Amino acid sequence: MNVEILLTEAEIAEEFTESLEARDLPEKFLYWFPLSVKTWRILAASPAFSGLSSTWETLRENTRDLVSHFDSEVPVVSFGAGDGSKDRMLLREIRAAGKNVKYFPVDASQTLLEAACAAAEDDDFDVTGIKGDISSRMHLLLAADAAEAPRLFLMAGNTLGGFDPLDQIRNISDGMRPGDRLVIDAELDSPEALESASSDAARAFAFAPLASVGVTPEDGRIRFERKEDSRHAGLAMVTKHFQSDRDLRIPLAASEISMARGERIFMNFRYLFTPEAFRWLLESQGRLKVDQQIKSSDNRFTTAVCSKHLQ
Ligand SMILES: C[S@@+](CC[C@H](N)C(=O)[O-])C[C@H]1O[C@@H](n2cnc3c(N)ncnc32)[C@H](O)[C@@H]1O
Repeated sequence: MNVEILLTEAEIAEEFTESLEARDLPEKFLYWFPLSVKTWRILAASPAFSGLSSTWETLRENTRDLVSHFDSEVPVVSFGAGDGSKDRMLLREIRAAGKNVKYFPVDASQTLLEAACAAAEDDDFDVTGIKGDISSRMHLLLAADAAEAPRLFLMAGNTLGGFDPLDQIRNISDGMRPGDRLVIDAELDSPEALESASSDAARAFAFAPLASVGVTPEDGRIRFERKEDSRHAGLAMVTKHFQSDRDLRIPLAASEISMARGERIFMNFRYLFTPEAFRWLLESQGRLKVDQQIKSSDNRFTTAVCSKHLQ
């Protein structure tokens, strides 16, 4: 298995301790522990995500057009690839169109990255995993440069929503060149969004990093809230925080974290968009041209195919 390391396990472990000390756990730790990967897979297979998965199946039909201007080789760079299952639907179509695929899944989760690489190898694709932090502009640009333009960039499975979308889309766009294409999805705001974000499967997934360091459901609860982002109309997010119901001592490899009763740990968030706000994000913040935008069959997600304007 061929994996380039921009972010080591030792760096992630150190950052995890610092994040717990700062009471703020960013997105990448939600996929780091084996229990997190297990609960993520259950959540991703739940009905809440079936509409999104079928959108990517539909996109498969457009893949030939999407890469028709590429020569014989199509480099595919997937930011936050997870286990790569959505990516592979497109990779198989590209191969069926008679082109060679060079696949670069990018992820901070060693377990998920290995799964993406192994499954792509089983399908006989040429794959180089990149273990990096896509919230880092430098890592994102290095990963984008894994191959020369034109490239097909993917950000699938509501990955964008786990980051500040304005910063993230600017960084992705800065790594794009004319000829490149980006397929990216997002969750639409709806009255059901908060309920779906706090389902039993979503709660188990959110609790997994804490359970992995010995916190139990009796120690406290995770609360979910919906908040507007005042930077633009139509931008909102579901935030999460853990609040302890008693004094806690969390043992970590090199230290112990003490938490007083009532203290909070802020956890990752998920952005929600109106279709117009998502388009504004891509066009105004990303300076991208939206070639196509489709809604999932359950109206819960939107997916866009974008290209870079000629400068
Ligand atoms: C919502 S999942 C989507 C996974 C996959 N694309 C799919 O459609 O199933 C987000 C993915 O981004 C990865 N991720 C989260 N934060 C990251 C970070 N800062 N750097 C790199 N990968 C990250 C997670 O490990 C996870 O695989």
